[in-house]
Amino acid sequence: MKRIGILTSGGDAPGMNACIRASVRAALAKDIEILGIREGFAGLMSGDIVPLDRAAIRNIIHLGGTMLGTSRPEEFKTIEGRAKAIGVLADKGIEGLILIGGDGTFQGASLLSNGGNIKIVGVPGTIDNDCYGTDYTIGFDTAVNTALEAIDRIRDTADAHQRLFFIEVMGRHSGFIALKSGIASGAEEIIIPEAPMSPEELCRHITGYFGKGKRSIIIVVAEQGHAGTTLELARQVKCSIGFDARVCILGHIQRGGPPTARDRVLASRLGIAAVQALLNGKDGHMVGEVNGEVAYTPLEDTWNKTKKLDPNLTEMLEILTD
Ligand code: F6P
Repeated sequence: MKRIGILTSGGDAPGMNACIRASVRAALAKDIEILGIREGFAGLMSGDIVPLDRAAIRNIIHLGGTMLGTSRPEEFKTIEGRAKAIGVLADKGIEGLILIGGDGTFQGASLLSNGGNIKIVGVPGTIDNDCYGTDYTIGFDTAVNTALEAIDRIRDTADAHQRLFFIEVMGRHSGFIALKSGIASGAEEIIIPEAPMSPEELCRHITGYFGKGKRSIIIVVAEQGHAGTTLELARQVKCSIGFDARVCILGHIQRGGPPTARDRVLASRLGIAAVQALLNGKDGHMVGEVNGEVAYTPLEDTWNKTKKLDPNLTEMLEILTD
């Protein structure tokens, strides 16, 4: 293999730059040319491609976002769109492609792999951590810590005013961010799609907490698909028990900012592993980390199989959220 391409796609995640940097360094160390595809699949279809050398990836390990840009173009979902991408890859002589993103990215990539002579390796980069085949995705740890810092701040003001707060965190259809940030912040309740709770039950718990003399109550809520779902839950609780409640939707603040040390190290490890996987002839796989070791998962498993929450953490909830 003489030339590989790299792109980031879907929602950006802190650590994507660290991953790009590591892949570039790993490729150059083996005298392989590496090209950066800008704006994700949009740049792949339009041929927005630049060579990456050591200077291009200097001093980016600490930066959030992605130096290559990202996108979610509808056109790539069409046969015509993918034909354009395959044409660009052939024109540029790209033999292997590294994609940093989530399961949606890998689903799109696998269609490319079927239609051309290109080897594809995915790297899990999403704050949601909802990728089967890796214990952690790049960006998750940073998002949890960003949410945690915000929740800690809200706790101060909630306690001062004896208030009930609903704090919505991201995570798409999964509760990984809510679970970890909720446990770490000492939230009274954590509402996640994997363990739904009726508004009636939640109201009973809230009444009980104030009855026990708590000054503030923090309910961490997973967004469950789209931002703002918590507003309706808070409205229902307010109507039922009449407590004054505030809602804080943390939103995209969780996606930005410098990656944590943990994310930088994970991203560096997987960025190198992705290049090595291509050189070893791997195709149609995601490189992840399972039990501390690099692991390869067929791309289709990343969207067909569901990653479960860690039962060691969910078991703790009954004791901790009380
Ligand atoms: O997948 C990452 C993520 O941040 C999700 O947590 C969230 O649901 C979604 O992307 C938001 O997407 P957008 O940036 O398009 O609003």
